[in-house]
Amino acid sequence: MGIIGRKRRPLEDHHLLLVTFFVAILLLQRAVVESSMLNDTRYRHTSSLRLERISRHLNKINKPPVLTIESPDGDLIDCVHKRKQLALDHPLLKNHKIQKMPTEMPRGMKVKMGVNDRSSDIEGEGVKQETWQMWHLNGTLCPKGTVPIRRSTVHDVLRAKSLYEFGKKRSRVSLSRRNDAPDVLSGNGHEHAIAYTGSSQEMYGAKATINVWDPSIQVMNEFSLSQLWILSGSFDGPDLNSIEAGWQVSPELYGDSRPRLFTYWTSDSYRSTGCYNLLCAGFVQTNNRIAIGAAISPVSSYASNQYDITILIWKDPKVGNWWMSFGEKTLVGYWPAELFTHLADHATMVEWGGEIVNSRANGQHTYTQMGSGRFAEDGFGKASYFRNLEIVDMDNTLTSVHSISTLAENTNCYDIKSYYTNEWGTYFYYGGPGNNPKCP
Ligand SMILES: *[C@@H]1O[C@H](CO)[C@@H](O)[C@H](O)[C@H]1NC(C)=O
Ligand SMILES: *[C@@H]1O[C@H](CO)[C@@H](O)[C@H](O)[C@H]1NC(C)=O
Repeated sequence: MGIIGRKRRPLEDHHLLLVTFFVAILLLQRAVVESSMLNDTRYRHTSSLRLERISRHLNKINKPPVLTIESPDGDLIDCVHKRKQLALDHPLLKNHKIQKMPTEMPRGMKVKMGVNDRSSDIEGEGVKQETWQMWHLNGTLCPKGTVPIRRSTVHDVLRAKSLYEFGKKRSRVSLSRRNDAPDVLSGNGHEHAIAYTGSSQEMYGAKATINVWDPSIQVMNEFSLSQLWILSGSFDGPDLNSIEAGWQVSPELYGDSRPRLFTYWTSDSYRSTGCYNLLCAGFVQTNNRIAIGAAISPVSSYASNQYDITILIWKDPKVGNWWMSFGEKTLVGYWPAELFTHLADHATMVEWGGEIVNSRANGQHTYTQMGSGRFAEDGFGKASYFRNLEIVDMDNTLTSVHSISTLAENTNCYDIKSYYTNEWGTYFYYGGPGNNPKCP
């Protein structure tokens, strides 16, 4: 506490007493909150033992905030001191020193990166660039030196299959790779409409601009997401490494149907390492404006305003951490190099696109929508898009992707069509309504 080796003055003793007093009050408050939670009628069917386990887990992952901001959508955004964030609890990050800035941005960025700027630069045809996060409407921001973290609640955990599965992704067994193409094995109900690069080159990052919609989800445990994947290792092996980010609608994870900014990582093929967002130790956040897991607002509407987000993920060529930026110039944070095996070197495949879960609740194909709920051929203003697909090459330079392959398991349910123009580079429309006469 900085007083070792110095003579304590009486004033400092006084301070120490005061601090101890306030800490005691805080702990007392917490204990009261927890025991009243145990009495809440909503949890009458949950055993008190389970609620105690859940509350112990939540105390571990929700770090004590300096300030809490209430979002109009009901989220609580905790401003947590940067050095108190959950990431640093990871056993591999015991002596981790937080990297403030990447040592180098990828070359070929259109604008210079800053820490807290708002995106507003590339104006596409009829595209508004005002996409931000709903909690900003509160008007209060997280103070310097803290990071905004969406607080997890008992409800969040109770919606998951189990405490163990909270924040985890059930393994993505449906994609296996043959001849360098993701090859679909039917099985767990995950359906995709994606574009991907071959593995003939070493990749050190990827970027895309994705427009945001609020697809409807038919069943609580289904989801609809639009993201990029940075992959390394073998789909068939036990240690596929994956870094993922984009927007998702997941009633199970968030308790509502809003599209939210999300991240995900795993270093063992979706088995036990990694999780969504900041629900386990791993991702180190550096930004005080972007909350991972928070709702994106506004969203695109049919034949009207289109709102998109830009995500870039790349490997710091000197330090090896995988950084993420949001918009054209906002650094969000990074996945430390220590978390990965194959990605400690480079990515062997990049994918962009949509994924839904089809649980076939009534024996029918789900009505859960992908993208805007429209097929690719509906085009601009109607279908969802990914534009300006780029990868970061071994010289840390962003280059437009020129050859991509596309894949959709059942184009009667969801499809994808890719194009190229000078302004949008390589881009594609994708998505669909799910259940319809051709997809019964
Ligand atoms: C919770 O309920 C038990 C039994 O119904 C009661 O004894 C206890 O005082 C209650 N605790 C709180 C914090 O309301
Ligand atoms: C902003 O958050 C504070 C602190 O949680 C809350 O008291 C306040 O009502 C919120 N304001 C708005 C406009 O939502």
